[in-house]
Parts: sequence; C-alpha cells; structure tokens
Amino acid sequence: MDSGKGATSVFLAREYGVWVVAADWWIAPDEAAAVFADAGVSGQVTAVRAEAHNLPFGKNSFDAIVIIDTFKYFGAFDWYLPYLAGFLRPGGQLGVATPGMTQEVRELGAIRERIKELFGWEPIAWHTAEWWRFQWEVTELVTVTSARLQEDGWRDWLLWTQAAAEHTGDWTGSPNNRQAVIDLLAADAGEFLTFAMVTARKN
Ligand SMILES: C[S@@+](CC[C@H](N)C(=O)[O-])C[C@H]1O[C@@H](n2cnc3c(N)ncnc32)[C@H](O)[C@@H]1O
Repeated sequence: MDSGKGATSVFLAREYGVWVVAADWWIAPDEAAAVFADAGVSGQVTAVRAEAHNLPFGKNSFDAIVIIDTFKYFGAFDWYLPYLAGFLRPGGQLGVATPGMTQEVRELGAIRERIKELFGWEPIAWHTAEWWRFQWEVTELVTVTSARLQEDGWRDWLLWTQAAAEHTGDWTGSPNNRQAVIDLLAADAGEFLTFAMVTARKN
C-alpha cells in the first residue's frame, strides 16, 4: 500500500511470486503501471489510486499488507490500525517500515532543533518501534511479531538521498533541500534518526 512508483511492489512480485495490489494516492496508476510493465511484472501487479482512509477493498481480502515510508502520514491515528486490520484475513501479516526516532518526541519534550529546522513538526509522527508495538497490540486485533529500529537505518536513508540527489536533484525547488537532508543525517549519525520496522499477524 502507498506504493509510490512501485519499487516495493516489483520486489514483492519478483522475489515472492505473489499477486500485488499497488495502492497509492499521489502517483497516477498509469505511471505506476508503466514501471510494472518495464519490470515485466504487469501480470502480477495492479496499480490502484486509493487514499489510505478510504480503501476500495473488501474485508479480510489480503494475505499481507506492506507499507514502506508512508505510515508516518496517517498510521499514528488511533483508529488506523483497526481500520487497516479489517482488510487482512485472520492470520494475515502486516509489515511497516517508517521513519522513526530513537526516543519519543514526547520524552524529549521537543523536536530537536536541527531536525525541526528541516522537517518542522512532522517528526511527532516518527515514533519508536516500542511505541508502535504498544499502539498495535493494545487493540488485541493483532499480535506484533517484531518491532525494532533499523540498525544504522540512517546510513541507508543517507545513501538513498545522495543517490536521489544525483539522479533527480531536489524535489521542492529549493536547491539545497536534499543537501540539507544529507547534512542533517550525517550530523545526526543515528543519534535520533532511523526507521522503525514493525510486523504483526492478525488475530
Ligand atoms: C515517500 S513515498 C513512499 C512510496 C513507496 N512506498 C516507496 O517506498 O517508494 C510516500 C507515498 O505515500 C503516499 N501517500 C501519502 N499519503 C497518503 C494517503 N493519505 N493515502 C494513500 N497514499 C498516501 C504518496 O502517494 C506517496 O507515493
């Protein structure tokens, strides 16, 4: 879900031979479909335009839901996990990787200045893995099978940002934006910034 231009969907189709519904809000299905055709997985992946709170799918209709780098936009809403779990069959699996921090903003008392300068208030949704574990398990709708911060996740985030800067430049029109992310990640060096990786099985 929230598949963007489809890299994860291509990976899942190729590596696991599964049938994938690639749902995303901003990327037009035609654009994603072209990626799937180029990758030779058109027969396995269907691109769908869908907003995360209004998913056009049936109850219990998926064996697995995978959400990469997007849960930060909506997943922390208390009602979201119960809503999403409704689309998984009993025993089905959920996997999320999303920007996370080594400490809760609430514990820190504020967003660290250098992070706030670049991302504003957004990091209030960059929860620790343990925050997600509790948030999900307390519903008793799922059993969390793993919840951890990605070790050295900031290095992958940095590499990706460097590669993206080389290939596509900046995404905001501000010439220094990607460079500012690179500088921030290098300065932070994993003190606060990484990814939370959480998996669960529907009860
Ligand atoms: C950072 S991209 C990640 C894309 C992809 N998962 C990946 O890892 O390359 C964020 C994606 O989240 C999607 N998104 C953001 N808010 C959404 C929402 N409310 N409902 C559905 N998709 C949403 C956007 O369409 C965008 O493609």
